Amino acid sequence: MNRRDFLLGSAATAGALGGGGWSLAGAAVAQQLTIQAASFRFRDQPTKGMVSLSPDAPPPVLYGTQGKPMHLRVVNGTEDYTAMHWHGLRIGNAMDGVPYLTQLPIAGGEAFEYEFIPPDAGTYWYHPHCMTMAQMAHGLTGVMVIKEAEDPGFDADQAVNLRDFRLDEEGAFLPYYTARGAARGGTRGNVLTANWLQAPVYDHPAGGLVRLRVVNTDTTRIYKLHLSTDQARIIAWDGHPVEFELPLPSAGEPLLVGPGQRVDFAVRMPAEEGQTAGLLAELPGQPTRTMATLRSVGADLARELRELKPLPANPVARPDLSKAEVHDFVFGWTPEGGPPNDGYCGSMGYSFWSINRTPWAGDAAKGTGPLAVLKQGRSYVLRLRNESPNLHPIHLHGLAFVPISSNLRKLPPLVTDTMLLMKDEVAEIALVTDNPGDWAFHCHVIEHQKTGLAGYIRVV
Ligand code: C2O
Ligand code: CU
Ligand code: CU
Repeated sequence: MNRRDFLLGSAATAGALGGGGWSLAGAAVAQQLTIQAASFRFRDQPTKGMVSLSPDAPPPVLYGTQGKPMHLRVVNGTEDYTAMHWHGLRIGNAMDGVPYLTQLPIAGGEAFEYEFIPPDAGTYWYHPHCMTMAQMAHGLTGVMVIKEAEDPGFDADQAVNLRDFRLDEEGAFLPYYTARGAARGGTRGNVLTANWLQAPVYDHPAGGLVRLRVVNTDTTRIYKLHLSTDQARIIAWDGHPVEFELPLPSAGEPLLVGPGQRVDFAVRMPAEEGQTAGLLAELPGQPTRTMATLRSVGADLARELRELKPLPANPVARPDLSKAEVHDFVFGWTPEGGPPNDGYCGSMGYSFWSINRTPWAGDAAKGTGPLAVLKQGRSYVLRLRNESPNLHPIHLHGLAFVPISSNLRKLPPLVTDTMLLMKDEVAEIALVTDNPGDWAFHCHVIEHQKTGLAGYIRVV
């Protein structure tokens, strides 16, 4: 089988190979990102076999500006295939980074030019979508900040990339998944990090306003988060500004943030130098853990949370529910076993999960059709039914949606790209299909995604 033998998606055949067919030529200076082997010291011994964009540091925060062209040249400096996805960005389908669906996998030594204009400001992230499990488990997940066209007036910005790693006492990698985990809630790591550090402390101006961007880029863990201060507010969720007051989470009612999800807090730093505000996690059967700490330095800036203007809304079209057609999606076990055919993008060797009773046959499986074909520019309701006892962060590429109802709870009308489906939950989400293409639709617990819980939706 040849890598160039076939492509599933319609977009990928439209001359977008290598990015050459579609270009914002000269619109932005290329930033080169070289995927490469790395090592990093989590424990006494350095951990080898990491994958990052530099030899000894986590993947950096990438910055862009809303409405301004970006050009990212992804060079594959490894021997495995890869493809890079920009999670949450509503960009052209050919730049979405999904192997076989929107582009061919990038071979070792090759590069792919990603050129796009981010339409929305906010907190996004990037990760590979080919060899997803292996490369993400070894570190290749990074935060992407798309700045508002107009400065929203913070004194500081702090990104926190939450990641687990599965390491032994010496710091060597343990197997990054188990069949048992993949068939249930996923295999959790045992070294919990923020920006690859265990409980890092970040200095910010005393009495200042900090935008704390928390990104769960883990392959498995659903974080239960809260802050040690009440001088804070949730200002954005999954990139998009929240247009109403969300209660600040607490130890008793922490915020559930699933893999792929992001929450932005505005935090007012304590007035006195040396005082702190912590990002805390509730972990099953363990004491509350500090994931990261903000520490006040310098003279009191005496800022107030109420000085902040609301963030400007992103240009997301709101669905018209009176006209929306409903499509059903059932997330559950797979009716048949057997390893998926996964071409060059890595297979876990099992098939446990399915969407609408069909397990994803593998990234490169010929003849895999879309789960639904939706017409461009219409309103739709997607009814998501979780038939399993496990939680699934269901993610849709290329489009933003609004959760509208659930059989279990009241859903705040956020604008999002990832819906954390609870046990036995049936939730409805609504969207306007204003971005044409083949959009991956999958669980963001990567062990679920790679063992069947994946598919795509075609917008034509
Ligand atoms: Cu975070 Cu298919 O993506
Ligand atoms: Cu995505
Ligand atoms: Cu799942």
